[in-house]
Amino acid sequence: MKLLLLNIKELLQVREHPPTKVAGKDMGILPSLKNAWLLVQDGKIKDYGTMDALPALEGFKTIDCKGKMVLPTWCDSHTHLVYAGNREQEFVDRIHGLSYQEIAEKGGGILNSAKRLQETSESSLYTQSAQRLEEVMQLGTGAIEIKSGYGLTTDAEMKMLRVAKKLAANYPVAIKTTFLGAHAVPATFKDNKEGYMDLVCGEMLQKISEEKLADYVDIFCEEGYFTVADTERLLKAAAKQGLVPKIHVNQFNAIGGVAAGVKYHALSVDHLEVLTEADIEALKNSDTMPVALPSCSYFLSIPYTPGRELINAGLPLALATDYNPGSTPSGNMNFVVATACIKMKLTPEEAINAATINGAYAMGLSETHGSVTKGKIANLIITKPVPSYGFLPYAFGSNCIDKVIIKGKVI
Ligand code: NIG
Ligand code: FE
Repeated sequence: MKLLLLNIKELLQVREHPPTKVAGKDMGILPSLKNAWLLVQDGKIKDYGTMDALPALEGFKTIDCKGKMVLPTWCDSHTHLVYAGNREQEFVDRIHGLSYQEIAEKGGGILNSAKRLQETSESSLYTQSAQRLEEVMQLGTGAIEIKSGYGLTTDAEMKMLRVAKKLAANYPVAIKTTFLGAHAVPATFKDNKEGYMDLVCGEMLQKISEEKLADYVDIFCEEGYFTVADTERLLKAAAKQGLVPKIHVNQFNAIGGVAAGVKYHALSVDHLEVLTEADIEALKNSDTMPVALPSCSYFLSIPYTPGRELINAGLPLALATDYNPGSTPSGNMNFVVATACIKMKLTPEEAINAATINGAYAMGLSETHGSVTKGKIANLIITKPVPSYGFLPYAFGSNCIDKVIIKGKVI
């Protein structure tokens, strides 16, 4: 389908020669064109310009964007969108005073979701996950990463990744998959974490690589879960299978996982609610993207990632949802962008860069996603009429989205 967007109040994130990521002061710059048009052809961005120089074009379906902003769809580089059932009882338990860690120690948390997932058929898991994916697409997400990690057996981990792959085949959003077998030690390996690590680094890694089910590898490097030594062991084994790391680090404690990630060329290190000077130093001069998950901080009432400090240190930052049943039962990137501004003191320009171009980087999608660039996939959000783009995070509780275009089609 050919589409022509006309009278766009402001076309955001326009980059003729896009960098793969933006860092430091550059994060405060959001290039745009006012009073613009944009042409979509064969699912890609064909051309754009200002209305005063609109060429004669025929054979296109037109959309009048008067008063509206157009920007690239969100790139959500960290989710656990494939899961079975929900954990609202744990949410209520936390209201009554139990902590997230206490709930996990009592067999709730990740192990609770793993039990549910193991008992759920692949087709039901697909149906539940597809419903979530459709919801986040309507909320403007056009590229998404999905992790395993609620299976914790070879079969169940593979089931999760097959479901994610099936979503990728059936929906127009770009989907990257990550093997997170080392999310928690399952009950069957209680007091035998080494035995479980043998399984993760051996059979699981091998089968998942053989069937090409994952693009990336992940581990929950955290006190009470997996150590830095476990992390290094897994990343070393995964590198042999060609799997690049994207890892969970520094959610509750800084135990050295950031430096380990950088050492093994992690594409991203995610969470970072607790961050030391040494972690910031480790990230400097690396290709590793720090990823903040502010909806998780909001839901668990834990500290927000010090995004300002990271940006002020000249580093890049990406924003993602962490959509999962325990710590973040929301896949709404609009809320993430708003919360990054409200709680982490990012400017709207920084937050939009973090949720688009830098999110694309954190999924290895810089070539095709994250900016308005000729030849990139036509994944676009058309907002409702808004006074300025700063209104988007400001009006944090409103749905400012009018239309979402993915691969050139209005969904
Ligand atoms: O990213 N921190 C580890 N994993 C998930 C949450 C897991 C859960 O509670 O189900 C996260 O927050
Ligand atoms: Fe996560």
